[in-house]
Amino acid sequence: MNKKVCVIGLGYIGLPTAVMFANHGVQVHGVDINEKAVNMIKQKQLHIEEEGLQERLNHAIDSGKFTVSTTPEEADVFIIAVPSPINEDKTANLDYVRDATKSLVPYLRKGNLVILESTVPPRTVEDVMLPILKETNLEIGTELFVSHSPERVIPGRIFEELTNNDRIVGGINEESARLTAELYRTFVKGTIHLTDATTAEMVKVIENTYRDVNIAFANELAKISEKIGINVWEAIRLANFHPRVNIHLPGPGVGGHCIAVDPWFLVELEPELAKIIRLARDTNDSMPEYTALKMKRILEEKGIQHGRVALFGLAFKGNVDDMRESPSLEVIHHLERLGIDYTAYDPHIKENRLSRQTQHIEEAVSHADMIVILTDHNEFKSLQPELVDHKVRTKIIFDTKNCIDRQMWEKEGYEVYLLGDAKNVPKM
Ligand SMILES: NC(=O)c1ccc[n+]([C@@H]2O[C@H](COP(=O)([O-])OP(=O)(O)OC[C@H]3O[C@@H](n4cnc5c(N)ncnc54)[C@H](O)[C@@H]3O)[C@@H](O)[C@H]2O)c1
Repeated sequence: MNKKVCVIGLGYIGLPTAVMFANHGVQVHGVDINEKAVNMIKQKQLHIEEEGLQERLNHAIDSGKFTVSTTPEEADVFIIAVPSPINEDKTANLDYVRDATKSLVPYLRKGNLVILESTVPPRTVEDVMLPILKETNLEIGTELFVSHSPERVIPGRIFEELTNNDRIVGGINEESARLTAELYRTFVKGTIHLTDATTAEMVKVIENTYRDVNIAFANELAKISEKIGINVWEAIRLANFHPRVNIHLPGPGVGGHCIAVDPWFLVELEPELAKIIRLARDTNDSMPEYTALKMKRILEEKGIQHGRVALFGLAFKGNVDDMRESPSLEVIHHLERLGIDYTAYDPHIKENRLSRQTQHIEEAVSHADMIVILTDHNEFKSLQPELVDHKVRTKIIFDTKNCIDRQMWEKEGYEVYLLGDAKNVPKM
Protein backbone atom coordinates (compact mmCIF):
# COMPACT_ATOMS: atom_id res chain seq x y z
CA MET A 1 0.00 0.00 0.00
CA ASN A 2 1.71 3.21 -1.08
CA LYS A 3 -0.79 5.53 0.55
CA LYS A 4 0.24 7.80 3.40
CA VAL A 5 -1.87 7.66 6.55
CA CYS A 6 -2.14 10.38 9.19
CA VAL A 7 -3.46 9.16 12.56
CA ILE A 8 -4.98 11.80 14.85
CA GLY A 9 -4.82 10.82 18.54
CA LEU A 10 -2.07 8.48 19.73
CA GLY A 11 -3.66 6.85 22.75
CA TYR A 12 -4.70 3.27 23.46
CA ILE A 13 -6.30 2.97 20.01
CA GLY A 14 -4.45 5.43 17.77
CA LEU A 15 -0.89 4.45 18.68
CA PRO A 16 -1.27 0.68 18.14
CA THR A 17 -3.19 1.36 14.90
CA ALA A 18 -0.52 3.76 13.62
CA VAL A 19 2.25 1.31 14.49
CA MET A 20 0.35 -1.54 12.86
CA PHE A 21 0.04 0.32 9.54
CA ALA A 22 3.69 1.43 9.69
CA ASN A 23 4.87 -2.14 10.30
CA HIS A 24 2.88 -3.23 7.25
CA GLY A 25 4.87 -0.88 5.05
CA VAL A 26 2.52 2.12 5.12
CA GLN A 27 4.04 5.57 5.67
CA VAL A 28 2.34 6.88 8.82
CA HIS A 29 2.37 10.25 10.51
CA GLY A 30 0.96 10.24 14.03
CA VAL A 31 -0.45 13.36 15.67
CA ASP A 32 -1.29 14.11 19.27
CA ILE A 33 -1.98 17.40 21.03
CA ASN A 34 -0.27 15.98 24.12
CA GLU A 35 3.29 17.21 23.62
CA LYS A 36 4.66 14.99 26.38
CA ALA A 37 3.21 11.89 24.71
CA VAL A 38 4.61 12.95 21.32
CA ASN A 39 8.10 13.49 22.76
CA MET A 40 8.01 10.14 24.51
CA ILE A 41 6.89 8.31 21.37
CA LYS A 42 9.66 10.01 19.36
CA GLN A 43 12.13 8.55 21.85
CA LYS A 44 10.48 5.16 21.56
CA GLN A 45 9.03 5.45 25.06
CA LEU A 46 5.48 4.37 25.83
CA HIS A 47 2.94 6.63 27.52
CA ILE A 48 0.43 3.76 27.66
CA GLU A 49 0.79 0.10 28.54
CA GLU A 50 -0.06 -2.50 25.90
CA GLU A 51 1.27 -6.01 25.37
CA GLY A 52 3.68 -6.11 22.42
CA LEU A 53 3.55 -2.35 21.75
CA GLN A 54 7.14 -1.52 22.73
CA GLU A 55 8.85 -3.79 20.21
CA ARG A 56 6.39 -2.80 17.49
CA LEU A 57 6.94 0.91 18.19
CA ASN A 58 10.73 0.43 18.09
CA HIS A 59 10.42 -1.30 14.74
CA ALA A 60 8.05 1.31 13.30
CA ILE A 61 10.32 4.22 14.24
CA ASP A 62 13.57 2.48 13.28
CA SER A 63 12.18 1.59 9.87
CA GLY A 64 11.47 5.29 9.16
CA LYS A 65 7.82 4.46 8.43
CA PHE A 66 6.45 6.22 11.51
CA THR A 67 6.87 9.89 12.36
CA VAL A 68 5.06 11.86 15.06
CA SER A 69 4.33 15.48 15.86
CA THR A 70 1.68 17.73 17.34
CA THR A 71 0.32 18.84 13.97
CA PRO A 72 -1.18 16.93 11.03
CA GLU A 73 0.54 16.56 7.66
CA GLU A 74 -0.92 16.09 4.20
CA ALA A 75 -1.75 12.44 3.57
CA ASP A 76 -4.07 10.20 1.57
CA VAL A 77 -6.00 8.90 4.55
CA PHE A 78 -6.74 10.50 7.93
CA ILE A 79 -7.79 8.30 10.86
CA ILE A 80 -9.29 9.99 13.91
CA ALA A 81 -8.95 8.13 17.23
CA VAL A 82 -9.56 10.79 19.85
CA PRO A 83 -11.55 10.50 23.09
CA SER A 84 -15.35 10.62 23.10
CA PRO A 85 -16.22 10.81 26.80
CA ILE A 86 -19.40 11.94 28.51
CA ASN A 87 -19.87 15.17 30.44
CA GLU A 88 -20.81 15.34 34.13
CA ASP A 89 -24.47 15.33 33.10
CA LYS A 90 -23.93 12.12 31.03
CA THR A 91 -24.32 13.87 27.67
CA ALA A 92 -21.79 13.08 24.94
CA ASN A 93 -18.71 15.29 24.82
CA LEU A 94 -17.87 15.53 21.12
CA ASP A 95 -15.41 18.41 21.50
CA TYR A 96 -12.40 16.17 20.77
CA VAL A 97 -14.00 14.78 17.62
CA ARG A 98 -14.97 18.30 16.51
CA ASP A 99 -11.49 19.74 17.21
CA ALA A 100 -9.70 16.83 15.55
CA THR A 101 -11.90 17.17 12.45
CA LYS A 102 -11.29 20.93 12.32
CA SER A 103 -7.55 20.40 12.62
CA LEU A 104 -7.63 18.37 9.38
CA VAL A 105 -9.42 20.93 7.24
CA PRO A 106 -6.24 22.81 6.09
CA TYR A 107 -4.58 19.51 5.09
CA LEU A 108 -7.39 17.84 3.16
CA ARG A 109 -7.03 17.48 -0.62
CA LYS A 110 -9.12 16.03 -3.44
CA GLY A 111 -9.33 12.24 -3.20
CA ASN A 112 -8.60 12.06 0.56
CA LEU A 113 -10.39 9.68 2.91
CA VAL A 114 -11.28 10.58 6.52
CA ILE A 115 -12.08 7.70 8.87
CA LEU A 116 -13.48 8.18 12.35
CA GLU A 117 -12.55 5.32 14.69
CA SER A 118 -13.75 6.90 17.96
CA THR A 119 -16.96 5.50 19.43
CA VAL A 120 -19.66 8.11 18.96
CA PRO A 121 -23.43 8.58 19.19
CA PRO A 122 -25.22 7.57 15.99
CA ARG A 123 -25.34 10.43 13.43
CA THR A 124 -22.10 12.06 14.62
CA VAL A 125 -20.38 11.61 11.25
CA GLU A 126 -23.38 13.00 9.38
CA ASP A 127 -24.34 15.79 11.77
CA VAL A 128 -21.04 16.81 13.42
CA MET A 129 -18.19 15.90 11.08
CA LEU A 130 -19.64 16.53 7.62
CA PRO A 131 -20.58 20.18 8.30
CA ILE A 132 -16.95 20.81 9.36
CA LEU A 133 -15.50 18.89 6.41
CA LYS A 134 -17.61 20.95 4.00
CA GLU A 135 -15.35 23.91 4.92
CA THR A 136 -12.72 22.29 2.67
CA ASN A 137 -14.92 23.16 -0.32
CA LEU A 138 -14.35 19.62 -1.55
CA GLU A 139 -17.45 17.79 -2.69
CA ILE A 140 -18.29 15.26 0.00
CA GLY A 141 -18.61 11.73 -1.36
CA THR A 142 -16.87 12.35 -4.69
CA GLU A 143 -13.83 14.50 -3.82
CA LEU A 144 -13.63 13.78 -0.12
CA PHE A 145 -14.57 10.36 1.24
CA VAL A 146 -15.69 9.85 4.82
CA SER A 147 -16.47 6.80 6.92
CA HIS A 148 -16.80 5.42 10.41
CA SER A 149 -14.97 2.26 11.37
CA PRO A 150 -15.44 1.72 15.09
CA GLU A 151 -12.57 0.16 16.99
CA ARG A 152 -13.61 -2.95 18.92
CA VAL A 153 -10.34 -4.23 20.36
CA ILE A 154 -9.77 -5.12 23.99
CA PRO A 155 -6.85 -3.51 25.84
CA GLY A 156 -4.18 -6.09 26.60
CA ARG A 157 -4.84 -7.96 23.33
CA ILE A 158 -5.03 -5.05 20.93
CA PHE A 159 -2.62 -6.36 18.30
CA GLU A 160 -4.17 -9.79 18.11
CA GLU A 161 -7.65 -8.29 17.86
CA LEU A 162 -6.68 -5.56 15.38
CA THR A 163 -5.61 -8.36 13.09
CA ASN A 164 -8.23 -11.03 13.69
CA ASN A 165 -11.46 -9.26 14.67
CA ASP A 166 -14.12 -8.68 12.07
CA ARG A 167 -14.34 -5.00 11.21
CA ILE A 168 -17.39 -2.83 10.60
CA VAL A 169 -16.95 -0.15 7.98
CA GLY A 170 -19.70 2.40 7.47
CA GLY A 171 -19.30 4.90 4.68
CA ILE A 172 -21.24 8.08 3.99
CA ASN A 173 -21.52 6.46 0.55
CA GLU A 174 -20.46 3.18 -1.05
CA GLU A 175 -17.17 4.52 -2.40
CA SER A 176 -16.15 5.77 1.06
CA ALA A 177 -16.88 2.34 2.53
CA ARG A 178 -15.03 0.58 -0.27
CA LEU A 179 -11.90 2.73 0.10
CA THR A 180 -11.92 2.27 3.87
CA ALA A 181 -12.21 -1.52 3.61
CA GLU A 182 -9.34 -1.56 1.12
CA LEU A 183 -7.15 0.33 3.59
CA TYR A 184 -7.85 -1.95 6.56
CA ARG A 185 -7.18 -5.04 4.43
CA THR A 186 -3.53 -4.02 4.85
CA PHE A 187 -3.52 -5.95 8.13
CA VAL A 188 -7.06 -7.13 8.99
CA LYS A 189 -7.54 -10.88 8.59
CA GLY A 190 -11.13 -10.89 9.92
CA THR A 191 -14.10 -10.21 7.66
CA ILE A 192 -14.76 -6.57 6.82
CA HIS A 193 -18.49 -5.82 6.82
CA LEU A 194 -19.70 -2.81 4.86
CA THR A 195 -22.63 -0.61 5.87
CA ASP A 196 -23.52 3.07 6.18
CA ALA A 197 -21.86 5.42 8.70
CA THR A 198 -24.82 5.78 11.08
CA THR A 199 -25.42 2.02 11.25
CA ALA A 200 -21.72 1.49 11.98
CA GLU A 201 -21.96 4.05 14.81
CA MET A 202 -25.01 2.24 16.18
CA VAL A 203 -23.34 -1.19 15.94
CA LYS A 204 -20.49 -0.18 18.21
CA VAL A 205 -22.77 1.50 20.73
CA ILE A 206 -25.12 -1.52 20.71
CA GLU A 207 -22.23 -3.90 21.41
CA ASN A 208 -21.17 -2.05 24.54
CA THR A 209 -24.74 -1.44 25.64
CA TYR A 210 -25.51 -5.16 25.32
CA ARG A 211 -22.59 -5.91 27.62
CA ASP A 212 -23.59 -3.22 30.11
CA VAL A 213 -27.16 -4.53 30.29
CA ASN A 214 -25.89 -8.10 30.64
CA ILE A 215 -23.54 -7.13 33.49
CA ALA A 216 -26.37 -5.23 35.20
CA PHE A 217 -28.41 -8.43 35.01
CA ALA A 218 -25.53 -10.34 36.63
CA ASN A 219 -25.20 -7.69 39.34
CA GLU A 220 -28.90 -7.91 40.07
CA LEU A 221 -28.58 -11.70 40.27
CA ALA A 222 -25.65 -11.25 42.68
CA LYS A 223 -27.77 -9.17 45.03
CA ILE A 224 -30.68 -11.64 44.80
CA SER A 225 -28.33 -14.60 45.39
CA GLU A 226 -26.98 -13.05 48.58
CA LYS A 227 -30.56 -12.72 49.82
CA ILE A 228 -31.70 -16.24 48.93
CA GLY A 229 -28.64 -18.00 50.23
CA ILE A 230 -26.70 -19.13 47.16
CA ASN A 231 -23.50 -18.37 45.26
CA VAL A 232 -24.24 -16.37 42.09
CA TRP A 233 -20.99 -17.39 40.41
CA GLU A 234 -21.97 -21.04 40.62
CA ALA A 235 -25.52 -20.29 39.42
CA ILE A 236 -24.27 -18.27 36.41
CA ARG A 237 -21.64 -20.89 35.58
CA LEU A 238 -24.29 -23.59 35.47
CA ALA A 239 -26.83 -21.44 33.57
CA ASN A 240 -24.19 -20.71 30.93
CA PHE A 241 -24.01 -24.42 30.06
CA HIS A 242 -27.29 -23.76 28.24
CA PRO A 243 -26.35 -23.35 24.57
CA ARG A 244 -28.26 -20.07 24.19
CA VAL A 245 -27.42 -18.41 27.50
CA ASN A 246 -24.39 -16.16 28.01
CA ILE A 247 -24.67 -14.27 31.28
CA HIS A 248 -21.76 -11.98 32.09
CA LEU A 249 -20.22 -11.71 35.54
CA PRO A 250 -21.02 -9.42 38.45
CA GLY A 251 -18.49 -7.11 40.07
CA PRO A 252 -17.96 -3.85 41.97
CA GLY A 253 -19.21 -1.77 39.04
CA VAL A 254 -18.54 -1.13 35.39
CA GLY A 255 -15.73 1.12 34.30
CA GLY A 256 -13.54 2.06 31.39
CA HIS A 257 -13.92 4.33 28.47
CA CYS A 258 -16.52 2.25 26.67
CA ILE A 259 -19.08 0.13 28.50
CA ALA A 260 -19.81 2.66 31.23
CA VAL A 261 -20.01 5.50 28.71
CA ASP A 262 -21.54 4.43 25.41
CA PRO A 263 -25.03 3.41 26.68
CA TRP A 264 -25.51 7.05 27.72
CA PHE A 265 -25.30 8.01 24.03
CA LEU A 266 -28.56 6.14 23.43
CA VAL A 267 -30.13 7.47 26.62
CA GLU A 268 -29.33 11.02 25.48
CA LEU A 269 -30.68 10.40 21.97
CA GLU A 270 -33.92 8.72 23.04
CA PRO A 271 -34.53 9.13 26.78
CA GLU A 272 -38.14 7.99 26.58
CA LEU A 273 -37.27 4.79 24.73
CA ALA A 274 -33.96 3.73 26.27
CA LYS A 275 -35.54 2.48 29.49
CA ILE A 276 -33.75 -0.84 30.09
CA ILE A 277 -30.50 0.79 29.02
CA ARG A 278 -30.93 3.56 31.59
CA LEU A 279 -31.87 1.12 34.36
CA ALA A 280 -28.83 -1.04 33.57
CA ARG A 281 -26.56 2.01 33.84
CA ASP A 282 -28.09 2.91 37.20
CA THR A 283 -27.77 -0.70 38.44
CA ASN A 284 -24.11 -0.89 37.50
CA ASP A 285 -23.46 2.54 38.95
CA SER A 286 -24.98 1.36 42.24
CA MET A 287 -22.40 -1.42 42.65
CA PRO A 288 -19.50 0.62 44.10
CA GLU A 289 -21.73 1.84 46.93
CA TYR A 290 -23.08 -1.69 47.43
CA THR A 291 -19.48 -2.93 47.64
CA ALA A 292 -18.42 -0.21 50.09
CA LEU A 293 -21.46 -0.85 52.29
CA LYS A 294 -20.63 -4.54 52.30
CA MET A 295 -17.12 -3.72 53.55
CA LYS A 296 -18.65 -1.61 56.31
CA ARG A 297 -20.97 -4.44 57.36
CA ILE A 298 -18.14 -6.99 57.38
CA LEU A 299 -16.07 -4.76 59.65
CA GLU A 300 -19.07 -4.09 61.92
CA GLU A 301 -19.99 -7.74 62.13
CA LYS A 302 -16.44 -8.58 63.18
CA GLY A 303 -16.61 -5.86 65.82
CA ILE A 304 -13.73 -3.98 64.19
CA GLN A 305 -13.75 -0.34 65.21
CA HIS A 306 -11.85 2.15 63.04
CA GLY A 307 -11.01 -0.60 60.58
CA ARG A 308 -8.57 -0.20 57.76
CA VAL A 309 -8.95 -1.80 54.34
CA ALA A 310 -6.35 -2.53 51.70
CA LEU A 311 -7.86 -2.00 48.26
CA PHE A 312 -6.24 -4.14 45.58
CA GLY A 313 -6.89 -2.78 42.09
CA LEU A 314 -7.49 0.72 40.78
CA ALA A 315 -7.65 -0.08 37.07
CA PHE A 316 -11.16 -0.56 35.70
CA LYS A 317 -10.34 -4.13 34.63
CA GLY A 318 -7.71 -6.80 35.02
CA ASN A 319 -4.19 -6.47 33.63
CA VAL A 320 -4.51 -2.93 32.25
CA ASP A 321 -3.20 0.40 33.54
CA ASP A 322 -6.35 2.34 32.70
CA MET A 323 -8.24 4.01 35.57
CA ARG A 324 -10.81 5.85 33.48
CA GLU A 325 -14.32 5.55 34.95
CA SER A 326 -12.92 2.87 37.27
CA PRO A 327 -15.43 1.62 39.84
CA SER A 328 -12.53 1.50 42.33
CA LEU A 329 -12.56 5.30 42.41
CA GLU A 330 -16.25 5.27 43.25
CA VAL A 331 -15.68 2.63 45.93
CA ILE A 332 -13.07 4.98 47.43
CA HIS A 333 -15.51 7.86 47.29
CA HIS A 334 -18.06 5.84 49.27
CA LEU A 335 -15.45 4.59 51.77
CA GLU A 336 -14.49 8.21 52.45
CA ARG A 337 -18.15 9.09 52.88
CA LEU A 338 -18.55 6.18 55.31
CA GLY A 339 -15.40 7.21 57.20
CA ILE A 340 -13.52 3.97 56.47
CA ASP A 341 -9.74 4.18 56.37
CA TYR A 342 -8.07 2.62 53.32
CA THR A 343 -4.89 2.29 51.31
CA ALA A 344 -5.00 1.55 47.59
CA TYR A 345 -2.52 -0.56 45.65
CA ASP A 346 -2.33 -1.42 41.96
CA PRO A 347 0.81 -2.86 40.38
CA HIS A 348 -0.31 -1.60 36.94
CA ILE A 349 -0.79 2.05 37.96
CA LYS A 350 2.85 3.04 38.17
CA GLU A 351 2.44 6.62 39.45
CA ASN A 352 0.59 7.57 42.62
CA ARG A 353 -2.49 9.36 41.35
CA LEU A 354 -4.38 9.26 44.65
CA SER A 355 -3.33 10.50 48.07
CA ARG A 356 -3.77 7.10 49.75
CA GLN A 357 -2.17 5.08 46.96
CA THR A 358 1.05 3.17 47.47
CA GLN A 359 3.39 1.35 45.11
CA HIS A 360 4.27 -1.22 47.77
CA ILE A 361 2.07 -4.14 48.63
CA GLU A 362 3.55 -4.40 52.15
CA GLU A 363 2.58 -0.80 52.85
CA ALA A 364 -0.93 -1.39 51.47
CA VAL A 365 -1.62 -4.32 53.79
CA SER A 366 0.15 -2.90 56.82
CA HIS A 367 -2.32 -3.06 59.75
CA ALA A 368 -5.16 -3.85 57.33
CA ASP A 369 -8.31 -5.50 58.68
CA MET A 370 -9.49 -6.56 55.26
CA ILE A 371 -7.96 -7.03 51.81
CA VAL A 372 -10.46 -6.16 49.10
CA ILE A 373 -9.89 -7.36 45.55
CA LEU A 374 -11.47 -4.84 43.18
CA THR A 375 -9.64 -5.71 39.97
CA ASP A 376 -8.77 -9.19 38.71
CA HIS A 377 -5.12 -8.54 37.85
CA ASN A 378 -3.05 -11.71 37.44
CA GLU A 379 -0.87 -10.49 40.32
CA PHE A 380 -3.86 -10.76 42.67
CA LYS A 381 -5.11 -14.08 41.29
CA SER A 382 -1.76 -15.67 42.07
CA LEU A 383 -1.07 -13.74 45.27
CA GLN A 384 0.23 -16.00 48.03
CA PRO A 385 -1.10 -15.30 51.55
CA GLU A 386 2.47 -15.59 52.99
CA LEU A 387 3.37 -12.39 51.17
CA VAL A 388 0.95 -10.31 53.20
CA ASP A 389 0.39 -12.45 56.32
CA HIS A 390 2.95 -10.81 58.55
CA LYS A 391 1.59 -7.31 57.89
CA VAL A 392 -2.20 -7.61 58.11
CA ARG A 393 -3.99 -6.96 61.39
CA THR A 394 -7.04 -9.13 60.67
CA LYS A 395 -7.22 -12.06 58.26
CA ILE A 396 -10.19 -11.11 56.11
CA ILE A 397 -10.24 -11.03 52.33
CA PHE A 398 -13.20 -9.79 50.29
CA ASP A 399 -13.07 -10.81 46.64
CA THR A 400 -15.45 -8.84 44.41
CA LYS A 401 -14.19 -10.58 41.25
CA ASN A 402 -14.18 -14.24 42.30
CA CYS A 403 -10.56 -14.45 41.21
CA ILE A 404 -8.58 -15.73 44.20
CA ASP A 405 -8.06 -19.31 45.28
CA ARG A 406 -10.59 -19.32 48.11
CA GLN A 407 -9.48 -22.62 49.61
CA MET A 408 -5.85 -21.55 49.75
CA TRP A 409 -6.73 -18.37 51.65
CA GLU A 410 -9.09 -20.23 53.97
CA LYS A 411 -6.36 -22.76 54.69
CA GLU A 412 -4.14 -19.86 55.78
CA GLY A 413 -6.80 -18.83 58.29
CA TYR A 414 -8.47 -16.07 56.28
CA GLU A 415 -12.18 -15.46 56.36
CA VAL A 416 -13.09 -15.16 52.67
CA TYR A 417 -16.05 -13.08 51.46
CA LEU A 418 -17.20 -13.13 47.88
CA LEU A 419 -19.49 -10.62 46.19
CA GLY A 420 -22.73 -12.41 45.31
CA ASP A 421 -22.08 -15.40 47.53
CA ALA A 422 -24.41 -15.88 50.49
CA LYS A 423 -21.75 -17.79 52.43
CA ASN A 424 -20.44 -15.42 55.11
CA VAL A 425 -22.68 -12.65 53.85
CA PRO A 426 -22.96 -9.90 56.43
CA LYS A 427 -26.47 -8.59 57.08
CA MET A 428 -27.16 -5.80 54.56
N1 LIG B 1 -9.31 2.16 24.80
C1 LIG B 1 -10.11 1.22 24.35
O1 LIG B 1 -10.08 0.09 24.76
C2 LIG B 1 -11.09 1.51 23.23
C3 LIG B 1 -11.66 0.42 22.55
C4 LIG B 1 -12.53 0.68 21.51
C5 LIG B 1 -12.83 1.99 21.18
N2 LIG B 1 -12.28 3.02 21.85
C6 LIG B 1 -12.62 4.38 21.45
O2 LIG B 1 -11.52 4.93 20.75
C7 LIG B 1 -11.44 6.34 20.99
C8 LIG B 1 -10.06 6.68 21.51
O3 LIG B 1 -9.89 6.03 22.75
P1 LIG B 1 -8.46 5.86 23.43
O4 LIG B 1 -8.65 4.86 24.51
O5 LIG B 1 -7.42 5.63 22.40
O6 LIG B 1 -8.27 7.32 24.06
P2 LIG B 1 -6.92 7.93 24.67
O7 LIG B 1 -7.33 9.01 25.60
O8 LIG B 1 -6.03 6.84 25.13
O9 LIG B 1 -6.21 8.59 23.40
C9 LIG B 1 -6.73 9.64 22.71
C10 LIG B 1 -5.59 10.57 22.33
O10 LIG B 1 -6.13 11.59 21.51
C11 LIG B 1 -5.41 12.78 21.79
N3 LIG B 1 -6.19 13.92 21.28
C12 LIG B 1 -7.29 14.50 21.78
N4 LIG B 1 -7.71 15.49 20.98
C13 LIG B 1 -6.85 15.53 19.94
C14 LIG B 1 -6.76 16.33 18.76
N5 LIG B 1 -7.63 17.29 18.52
N6 LIG B 1 -5.73 16.11 17.93
C15 LIG B 1 -4.82 15.14 18.19
N7 LIG B 1 -4.86 14.35 19.26
C16 LIG B 1 -5.87 14.54 20.13
C17 LIG B 1 -5.24 12.75 23.29
O11 LIG B 1 -4.20 13.60 23.71
C18 LIG B 1 -4.95 11.27 23.52
O12 LIG B 1 -3.57 10.98 23.53
C19 LIG B 1 -12.59 6.66 21.95
O13 LIG B 1 -13.70 7.07 21.22
C20 LIG B 1 -12.88 5.33 22.59
O14 LIG B 1 -14.21 5.23 23.03
C21 LIG B 1 -11.40 2.80 22.86
